[in-house]
Amino acid sequence: MAAALVAGGTGALGRAVVGELRDSGWAVTVVNRHARQVEGVAVLEADLLDPDAAGMAVEGVEDLRAVVNLVGGFSMGPKVEGVRLADFEHMLRLNLVPAFNLARAAMPRLAAAGGGAFICVSARAALRPFAGASGYITAKAGVLALVQALDAEYRGAGVRSNAVLPSVIDTPANRESMPDADPSKWVPPAEIARVIRFLCSEDSAPTSGAAVPVYGRA
Ligand SMILES: NC(=O)c1ccc[n+]([C@@H]2O[C@H](COP(=O)([O-])OP(=O)(O)OC[C@H]3O[C@@H](n4cnc5c(N)ncnc54)[C@H](OP(=O)(O)O)[C@@H]3O)[C@@H](O)[C@H]2O)c1
Repeated sequence: MAAALVAGGTGALGRAVVGELRDSGWAVTVVNRHARQVEGVAVLEADLLDPDAAGMAVEGVEDLRAVVNLVGGFSMGPKVEGVRLADFEHMLRLNLVPAFNLARAAMPRLAAAGGGAFICVSARAALRPFAGASGYITAKAGVLALVQALDAEYRGAGVRSNAVLPSVIDTPANRESMPDADPSKWVPPAEIARVIRFLCSEDSAPTSGAAVPVYGRA
């Protein structure tokens, strides 16, 4: 059975992605900082900011054919003049370093296996910025650039690299932090999970280097 590693698989989007891949026949391994039980899948504990931990997580998965990196985070704040360097760097690290560490370990393995898929989560904000999130926006634009660099380096070996770009996902955290918003405009995690399942599958064989909008109706 082909295996998929899902980094951040216990998060709001992660749980939907894990269920979707598991139910469509993938052997799924979830990687988070905190080991938690997830039904029907293996769970590894690793801080993906650490390159050695990311390398060990990738090594621990047999017959690896897909890597889905969902690790990332958002923070809203002042305009750039009021942003502390530490907060800017935190956004860059959280959104970019796990993707880099996973790619570094996984791309040669996927290439040696004859091909596979590497998927990251950017954000619509990378293409349509708004005020108050310069670190996040810069980082998510970096995710797009990284995916395109990976595409340039590994497409010839059959490894497809793609990014999905959500706007606002309908998560419990978003409902709590935006109580006055209309969640019917947000995208359910299950809908994005189906797009990610497609990008993991051979059905997406001709697609690599793409920034795939998953904005829904927003
Ligand atoms: N939610 C939205 O509206 C939205 C919109 C646009 C883009 N996105 C992007 O979509 C992705 C998923 O979002 P989400 O809302 O599902 O996030 P989430 O609920 O915060 O989940 C994040 C996951 O990443 C894991 N994680 C965090 N730091 C880690 C680290 N250093 N090493 C290993 N695992 C780590 C967390 O588990 P542990 O705590 O156990 O490590 C958790 O499983 C993110 O990249 C986010 O930026 C989300």
